[in-house]
Amino acid sequence: MKKIVLSPLIVALDVPQAAEALRVVDQLSGQADVFKVGLQLFTKEGPRIVDEIIGRGKKVFVDLKLHDIPNTVASAVENLIKPGVEFLTIHGLGGREMLASAAGMLARFREKNPHIRTKILCVTVLTSLDDEDLNEVGIDHSATGEVLNLARLAISCGIEGVVASPEEASILRQQLGRDLVIVTPGVRMVEDDAGDQKRVATPAQAIRDGANFVVMGRSLLSQIRPAEAAKRILESINFPTV
Ligand code: C5P
Repeated sequence: MKKIVLSPLIVALDVPQAAEALRVVDQLSGQADVFKVGLQLFTKEGPRIVDEIIGRGKKVFVDLKLHDIPNTVASAVENLIKPGVEFLTIHGLGGREMLASAAGMLARFREKNPHIRTKILCVTVLTSLDDEDLNEVGIDHSATGEVLNLARLAISCGIEGVVASPEEASILRQQLGRDLVIVTPGVRMVEDDAGDQKRVATPAQAIRDGANFVVMGRSLLSQIRPAEAAKRILESINFPTV
Protein backbone atom coordinates (compact mmCIF):
# COMPACT_ATOMS: atom_id res chain seq x y z
CA MET A 1 0.00 0.00 0.00
CA LYS A 2 1.19 3.54 -0.81
CA LYS A 3 2.63 5.28 2.23
CA ILE A 4 0.69 8.43 3.04
CA VAL A 5 2.37 11.06 5.19
CA LEU A 6 -0.23 12.46 7.54
CA SER A 7 0.02 15.74 9.42
CA PRO A 8 1.29 14.98 12.93
CA LEU A 9 -1.38 17.29 14.33
CA ILE A 10 -4.62 15.53 15.31
CA VAL A 11 -7.45 17.87 16.27
CA ALA A 12 -9.72 16.74 19.12
CA LEU A 13 -13.28 17.68 18.18
CA ASP A 14 -14.40 18.14 21.78
CA VAL A 15 -17.37 20.29 20.89
CA PRO A 16 -21.07 19.89 21.71
CA GLN A 17 -22.47 19.12 18.28
CA ALA A 18 -21.95 18.21 14.64
CA ALA A 19 -22.31 21.69 13.12
CA GLU A 20 -19.49 23.04 15.26
CA ALA A 21 -17.34 19.96 14.69
CA LEU A 22 -17.70 20.22 10.92
CA ARG A 23 -16.88 23.93 11.06
CA VAL A 24 -13.63 23.05 12.86
CA VAL A 25 -12.87 20.34 10.27
CA ASP A 26 -13.32 22.87 7.46
CA GLN A 27 -11.25 25.53 9.27
CA LEU A 28 -8.34 23.20 9.98
CA SER A 29 -8.42 20.93 6.94
CA GLY A 30 -5.22 22.54 5.61
CA GLN A 31 -3.26 21.70 8.75
CA ALA A 32 -4.74 18.41 9.97
CA ASP A 33 -5.64 15.16 8.23
CA VAL A 34 -7.02 13.28 11.23
CA PHE A 35 -9.83 14.58 13.45
CA LYS A 36 -10.65 12.97 16.75
CA VAL A 37 -14.22 12.16 17.68
CA GLY A 38 -14.42 11.45 21.38
CA LEU A 39 -17.13 10.61 23.86
CA GLN A 40 -18.70 14.08 23.94
CA LEU A 41 -19.41 14.28 20.22
CA PHE A 42 -20.07 10.58 19.64
CA THR A 43 -22.66 10.36 22.42
CA LYS A 44 -24.43 13.40 21.01
CA GLU A 45 -24.27 12.71 17.27
CA GLY A 46 -23.67 8.96 16.98
CA PRO A 47 -21.67 7.18 14.24
CA ARG A 48 -23.08 9.56 11.60
CA ILE A 49 -20.57 12.24 12.57
CA VAL A 50 -17.74 9.84 11.70
CA ASP A 51 -19.20 9.33 8.21
CA GLU A 52 -19.70 13.06 7.72
CA ILE A 53 -16.05 13.80 8.46
CA ILE A 54 -14.92 10.96 6.16
CA GLY A 55 -17.27 12.38 3.53
CA ARG A 56 -15.22 15.59 3.66
CA GLY A 57 -12.14 13.61 2.67
CA LYS A 58 -10.67 13.56 6.18
CA LYS A 59 -9.65 10.71 8.45
CA VAL A 60 -11.18 10.01 11.83
CA PHE A 61 -9.73 8.91 15.14
CA VAL A 62 -12.62 7.31 17.01
CA ASP A 63 -11.64 7.77 20.64
CA LEU A 64 -14.18 5.81 22.66
CA LYS A 65 -11.56 4.15 24.91
CA LEU A 66 -13.35 0.80 24.83
CA HIS A 67 -13.10 -1.23 28.02
CA ASP A 68 -15.40 -4.25 28.45
CA ILE A 69 -15.33 -8.03 28.18
CA PRO A 70 -13.39 -9.31 25.12
CA ASN A 71 -16.44 -10.32 23.08
CA THR A 72 -18.18 -6.98 23.56
CA VAL A 73 -15.08 -4.98 22.70
CA ALA A 74 -14.41 -7.09 19.59
CA SER A 75 -17.99 -6.48 18.43
CA ALA A 76 -17.68 -2.73 18.98
CA VAL A 77 -14.37 -2.74 17.10
CA GLU A 78 -16.10 -4.60 14.27
CA ASN A 79 -18.69 -1.82 14.09
CA LEU A 80 -16.07 0.94 14.09
CA ILE A 81 -13.47 -0.28 11.57
CA LYS A 82 -13.99 1.17 8.10
CA PRO A 83 -12.04 3.00 5.40
CA GLY A 84 -11.44 6.51 6.72
CA VAL A 85 -11.20 5.46 10.36
CA GLU A 86 -7.49 5.88 10.99
CA PHE A 87 -7.39 5.11 14.70
CA LEU A 88 -9.59 3.75 17.42
CA THR A 89 -8.82 3.33 21.10
CA ILE A 90 -9.21 0.57 23.65
CA HIS A 91 -8.07 0.55 27.27
CA GLY A 92 -4.93 -1.37 28.18
CA LEU A 93 -6.42 -2.22 31.57
CA GLY A 94 -9.00 -4.38 29.78
CA GLY A 95 -6.30 -7.04 29.78
CA ARG A 96 -4.68 -9.51 27.41
CA GLU A 97 -7.74 -11.31 26.13
CA MET A 98 -9.61 -8.09 25.39
CA LEU A 99 -6.63 -6.55 23.58
CA ALA A 100 -6.01 -9.73 21.59
CA SER A 101 -9.62 -10.14 20.54
CA ALA A 102 -9.72 -6.53 19.28
CA ALA A 103 -6.44 -7.04 17.38
CA GLY A 104 -7.80 -10.33 15.96
CA MET A 105 -10.91 -8.56 14.70
CA LEU A 106 -8.78 -5.95 12.92
CA ALA A 107 -6.57 -8.67 11.40
CA ARG A 108 -9.65 -10.39 9.93
CA PHE A 109 -10.80 -7.09 8.37
CA ARG A 110 -7.38 -6.51 6.83
CA GLU A 111 -7.35 -9.97 5.28
CA LYS A 112 -10.64 -9.20 3.55
CA ASN A 113 -9.92 -5.56 2.65
CA PRO A 114 -6.35 -4.37 2.07
CA HIS A 115 -7.60 -0.75 1.99
CA ILE A 116 -8.34 -0.75 5.69
CA ARG A 117 -5.78 1.54 7.35
CA THR A 118 -7.36 1.50 10.81
CA LYS A 119 -4.93 1.00 13.69
CA ILE A 120 -5.98 0.18 17.21
CA LEU A 121 -4.30 2.30 19.87
CA CYS A 122 -4.03 1.12 23.44
CA VAL A 123 -4.83 3.82 25.99
CA THR A 124 -2.22 3.43 28.70
CA VAL A 125 -2.58 5.93 31.56
CA LEU A 126 -4.83 8.96 31.02
CA THR A 127 -2.85 12.19 30.81
CA SER A 128 -5.10 13.63 33.50
CA LEU A 129 -3.72 11.15 36.06
CA ASP A 130 -0.48 11.43 38.01
CA ASP A 131 1.26 8.98 40.35
CA GLU A 132 -0.90 10.00 43.29
CA ASP A 133 -4.13 9.39 41.34
CA LEU A 134 -2.81 5.97 40.31
CA ASN A 135 -1.98 5.05 43.90
CA GLU A 136 -5.52 5.92 44.87
CA VAL A 137 -6.92 3.36 42.42
CA GLY A 138 -4.51 0.69 43.65
CA ILE A 139 -1.67 1.00 41.12
CA ASP A 140 1.36 1.37 43.34
CA HIS A 141 4.02 2.12 40.76
CA SER A 142 4.69 5.24 38.73
CA ALA A 143 2.67 6.41 35.72
CA THR A 144 5.73 5.77 33.54
CA GLY A 145 6.07 2.20 34.81
CA GLU A 146 2.40 1.54 34.20
CA VAL A 147 2.52 3.05 30.69
CA LEU A 148 5.45 0.80 29.75
CA ASN A 149 3.80 -2.22 31.27
CA LEU A 150 0.53 -1.69 29.36
CA ALA A 151 2.33 -0.80 26.11
CA ARG A 152 4.35 -4.05 26.27
CA LEU A 153 1.21 -6.03 26.97
CA ALA A 154 -0.60 -4.37 24.04
CA ILE A 155 2.25 -5.08 21.61
CA SER A 156 2.36 -8.70 22.69
CA CYS A 157 -1.36 -8.89 21.78
CA GLY A 158 -0.80 -7.51 18.26
CA ILE A 159 -1.77 -3.88 18.97
CA GLU A 160 0.29 -1.43 16.90
CA GLY A 161 0.07 1.84 18.80
CA VAL A 162 -0.41 3.51 22.16
CA VAL A 163 -1.80 6.70 23.61
CA ALA A 164 0.45 8.08 26.32
CA SER A 165 1.52 11.42 27.73
CA PRO A 166 4.43 13.30 26.16
CA GLU A 167 6.39 12.54 29.31
CA GLU A 168 6.54 8.88 28.33
CA ALA A 169 7.16 9.34 24.61
CA SER A 170 10.92 9.05 24.78
CA ILE A 171 11.09 5.98 27.01
CA LEU A 172 8.43 4.25 24.90
CA ARG A 173 10.36 5.02 21.71
CA GLN A 174 13.69 3.91 23.22
CA GLN A 175 12.41 0.71 24.75
CA LEU A 176 9.76 -0.41 22.29
CA GLY A 177 11.24 0.49 18.94
CA ARG A 178 10.44 2.66 15.98
CA ASP A 179 7.45 0.77 14.60
CA LEU A 180 5.18 1.54 17.54
CA VAL A 181 2.71 4.36 16.78
CA ILE A 182 2.85 6.83 19.67
CA VAL A 183 0.03 9.34 20.00
CA THR A 184 0.27 11.95 22.74
CA PRO A 185 -2.54 14.11 24.11
CA GLY A 186 -1.78 16.41 27.04
CA VAL A 187 -0.08 18.79 24.64
CA ARG A 188 0.01 22.54 25.24
CA MET A 189 1.72 25.57 23.79
CA VAL A 190 4.01 27.21 26.38
CA GLU A 191 1.56 30.07 26.97
CA ASP A 192 -1.43 27.73 27.60
CA ASP A 193 -3.28 26.67 30.68
CA ALA A 194 -2.90 22.92 31.33
CA GLY A 195 -6.54 22.59 32.51
CA ASP A 196 -7.20 19.10 33.90
CA GLN A 197 -4.15 17.61 32.17
CA LYS A 198 -1.31 16.80 34.55
CA ARG A 199 1.41 15.28 32.37
CA VAL A 200 1.92 17.91 29.64
CA ALA A 201 4.53 19.16 27.12
CA THR A 202 4.69 21.32 24.00
CA PRO A 203 4.03 19.71 20.59
CA ALA A 204 7.67 20.22 19.58
CA GLN A 205 8.90 18.47 22.71
CA ALA A 206 6.48 15.57 22.25
CA ILE A 207 7.56 15.00 18.63
CA ARG A 208 11.26 15.39 19.49
CA ASP A 209 10.80 12.77 22.18
CA GLY A 210 9.40 10.27 19.70
CA ALA A 211 5.65 10.85 19.36
CA ASN A 212 4.27 10.33 15.83
CA PHE A 213 1.16 12.41 16.48
CA VAL A 214 0.05 15.02 18.98
CA VAL A 215 -3.62 15.47 19.86
CA MET A 216 -4.72 19.01 20.55
CA GLY A 217 -8.12 20.11 21.69
CA ARG A 218 -8.85 23.03 23.95
CA SER A 219 -5.67 25.02 23.42
CA LEU A 220 -6.30 25.03 19.67
CA LEU A 221 -10.08 25.36 19.62
CA SER A 222 -10.04 28.30 22.05
CA GLN A 223 -7.91 30.37 19.66
CA ILE A 224 -9.55 33.21 17.72
CA ARG A 225 -7.71 32.02 14.60
CA PRO A 226 -7.21 28.27 15.03
CA ALA A 227 -5.74 27.73 11.55
CA GLU A 228 -2.96 30.23 12.24
CA ALA A 229 -2.28 28.63 15.60
CA ALA A 230 -2.19 25.21 13.91
CA LYS A 231 0.30 26.52 11.35
CA ARG A 232 2.53 27.81 14.14
CA ILE A 233 2.33 24.41 15.82
CA LEU A 234 3.35 22.63 12.61
CA GLU A 235 6.19 25.10 12.07
CA SER A 236 7.38 24.46 15.63
CA ILE A 237 7.72 20.78 14.73
CA ASN A 238 9.21 21.50 11.29
CA PHE A 239 6.31 19.94 9.40
CA PRO A 240 5.92 21.63 6.02
CA THR A 241 2.83 23.86 5.89
CA VAL A 242 0.99 25.24 2.88
O1 C5P B 1 -8.24 19.68 25.25
P1 C5P B 1 -7.08 18.72 25.28
O2 C5P B 1 -5.99 19.07 24.31
O3 C5P B 1 -6.59 18.46 26.69
O4 C5P B 1 -7.72 17.37 24.74
C1 C5P B 1 -7.06 16.14 24.79
C2 C5P B 1 -7.91 15.11 24.11
O5 C5P B 1 -7.23 13.88 24.17
C3 C5P B 1 -9.27 14.88 24.76
O6 C5P B 1 -10.17 14.61 23.69
C4 C5P B 1 -9.10 13.63 25.60
O7 C5P B 1 -10.26 12.85 25.65
C5 C5P B 1 -8.02 12.89 24.83
N1 C5P B 1 -7.18 11.98 25.60
C6 C5P B 1 -6.45 12.36 26.71
N2 C5P B 1 -5.69 11.44 27.39
C7 C5P B 1 -5.64 10.18 26.96
C8 C5P B 1 -6.36 9.80 25.82
C9 C5P B 1 -7.12 10.74 25.15
O8 C5P B 1 -6.46 13.53 27.06
N3 C5P B 1 -4.87 9.32 27.58
